[in-house]
Amino acid sequence: MIAVYPGSFDPITNGHLDLIERGSRLFDKLIVSVLRNESKAPLFTVAERTEMLRDVVRGYANVEVDSFHGLLVDHANERGATVLLRGIRAISDYEYELQMALMNRRLRPHIETVFLMSGEAYSFISSRLVKEVFSLGGDISGLVPRSVEARLRSRILQSSI
Ligand code: PNS
Repeated sequence: MIAVYPGSFDPITNGHLDLIERGSRLFDKLIVSVLRNESKAPLFTVAERTEMLRDVVRGYANVEVDSFHGLLVDHANERGATVLLRGIRAISDYEYELQMALMNRRLRPHIETVFLMSGEAYSFISSRLVKEVFSLGGDISGLVPRSVEARLRSRILQSSI
């Protein structure tokens, strides 16, 4: 069974990584797919985000990294996936996730969305908050992989010069 774990991953956090690890045990193949969305203004380019992801998933033999644009369900279908994997942190995630899951099911009924509850240690982490806290000088150790922390440091230093 092939699953796609889609997201912006700007950047990947330890919450995402927890989901990847658990997803890799549930599915034969897990494809972590970065949305190529020209309308958002991300901190990292898609190439940088996929590079960071590849770096941290190297240890998982059945996990690969890809990117997509257009409809997620079309991408999943092209990749032979029958499952979309998403994480739910708090009840506040539920409404948005429910809307997406129902819309995706309407578009391609044979593709199921599977939700995993975030690990309790990660339920408050988001890429947006990590970027905000880091850019304001707060400590983000333990929230993102070390390699990502280094990337954030150089990117935020660059943008403040
Ligand atoms: O990490 P994010 O930003 O919460 O991920 C959102 C994502 C990429 C899963 C969602 O925006 C998406 O699937 N976009 C692709 C376009 C699409 O298929 N839209 C209809 C979904 S109902």
